[in-house]
Parts: sequence; structure tokens; C-alpha cells
Amino acid sequence: MKNTVVTFRQAKEKGEKLTMLTAYDYSTAKLIDEAGINSILVGDSLGNVILGYEDTISVTMEDMIHHGAAVARGAKNALVVVDMPFMSYQTSVYDAVVNAGRLMKEARAGAVKLEGGKEVCPQIQGIVQAGIPVMAHLGLTPQSIHAFGGFKVQGKTKAAAQKLLEDARAVQEAGAFAVVLECVPAKLADMVTKELEISTIGIGAGNVCDGQVLVYQDMLGMFSDFTPKFVKKFANVGEVMKEAFLFYKKEVAEGSFPAKEHEYTISDDVLEKLY
Ligand code: KIV
Repeated sequence: MKNTVVTFRQAKEKGEKLTMLTAYDYSTAKLIDEAGINSILVGDSLGNVILGYEDTISVTMEDMIHHGAAVARGAKNALVVVDMPFMSYQTSVYDAVVNAGRLMKEARAGAVKLEGGKEVCPQIQGIVQAGIPVMAHLGLTPQSIHAFGGFKVQGKTKAAAQKLLEDARAVQEAGAFAVVLECVPAKLADMVTKELEISTIGIGAGNVCDGQVLVYQDMLGMFSDFTPKFVKKFANVGEVMKEAFLFYKKEVAEGSFPAKEHEYTISDDVLEKLY
């Protein structure tokens, strides 16, 4: 069944957990969709795991549209949420609405996600008023990594926890249909989840949230540059891939691949007529 923002609302009402994974291409989106995951996030984490950048700062609108469109073609039932990249919404409400519109029209997103609390509420309101569903993102917001001074758990002090709670209320009030809580103490995430009517989607925020999201390369053991504490490796696909690459190399070298069954045939009659 097609997942929409209504699915998110109903899941919260019924106390059913939501699942979300990232994807950046058609084939992966299809596999995730076929597994019945509720939502696919085309995260700007593509800067790290696909493009090999150190952070998400250099990711462009064109990158998000290119990968978002591929994912949207592979996702039949999952709600496709596409990240708004750095500086595509911070600059003005106008820029935010225009760029969110591009993600809907050109990438065929079902919703957009942007990072920040009270400071981006005018943008959330503008985008929602344009008929585009918005997922907010609080806690460790990677586009502000230079302001945080590194990847750190957020909301640990009284002031920081209070700000996160107020930001959560503000993004709900502005019209967001869900909010990602990244690297937030579980007890604080629990408080936010209980207080909000919209769904909280946790990543490094305990099992108390209304749903969970992970970067698929992290949960499949395919990305080894950096593994946060909150990641569980559900499979070691990286090792399986490396092993397959080695077998391929060996079989090509010894001539056992391609075998007879991988060949195309031609009749000897044709060959005999060649000169
Ligand atoms: O870009 C991304 O993948 C994200 C998730 C980590 C929530 O924002």
C-alpha cells in the first residue's frame, strides 16, 4: 500500500513503528520498497557515502534531483523524502519554496526534509503553504557540523535540551508532518515523542521514537570511513561484495569466467562465409 503523510499520522495514532532507510539509486530503492519499508530518504548523506565528501556541505540541488529522481522511479509504495541541501533554504523563504518545488517537480519527491528549528520555521510554513509536506530534522544536523565543532550528541545540557524541545514544538506548529531526531539522548527523545502529535523518526535517539531511520550503507556494513555508535550492522554486505570482486578477478585471470553458459552462439554456416 502506498505510504503518504497520512500513513505517518495513522501510525502515530495506532502506536505502530515507522521504518525509513536512505537510498540514492533506482536498484536500492526497489529493494527497500519491496521489503515494505515505509519511507525512503534521499539524504544529503549522499555527499559522504556516494560522492566521498567529508561532509554534506558541497551537495547541490542538482545532486539531490539526480539521485532523488532515480529513487522515485524505484519506489512504488515507500514515501520518498528528499533532503534540501545546504543553502537551498537557509537564504530565504522564497529560495526554500522554489527549491522544494524543484524537488517535487524534477525529482518527483513525496516530501522534502530540511534541518533546523525555530530559525527555519518561516521556510517550513512557506513550503507547507505551497502544498509540499515537510519533514524537519533536529539534534545533530550535519549541515551545521562546522558550527557544532564536530559530530557530537546534542541536547545534553539543560539549555540545549530545552532548546530542542522548543524547536520540536515550533516545527510542529509550522506544519512539519514529522521530525528526525539525530544523536539525541533517548530520555529526551522520549519526552519529545510523547509531547508531539507528529511522528518522531530517530537515528541515535533510542527506541522510543515513533520510527527509525538509518543510512543503508551503514546498516549493511558497506561504509567503513566512520561508524557512529548508534549504527547496527544488520548484514556484512561490504565483505560479501569484496569477496565477490576477488572471485571475479580470479576467474577472469584463470579463464573460468565467462563459461560456456555465458556465451552467445553463431552458426558455423555464417562464419564459413566470412573472408
Ligand atoms: O542525510 C541523511 O541521510 C540524513 C539521515 C542521517 C537522517 O539526514
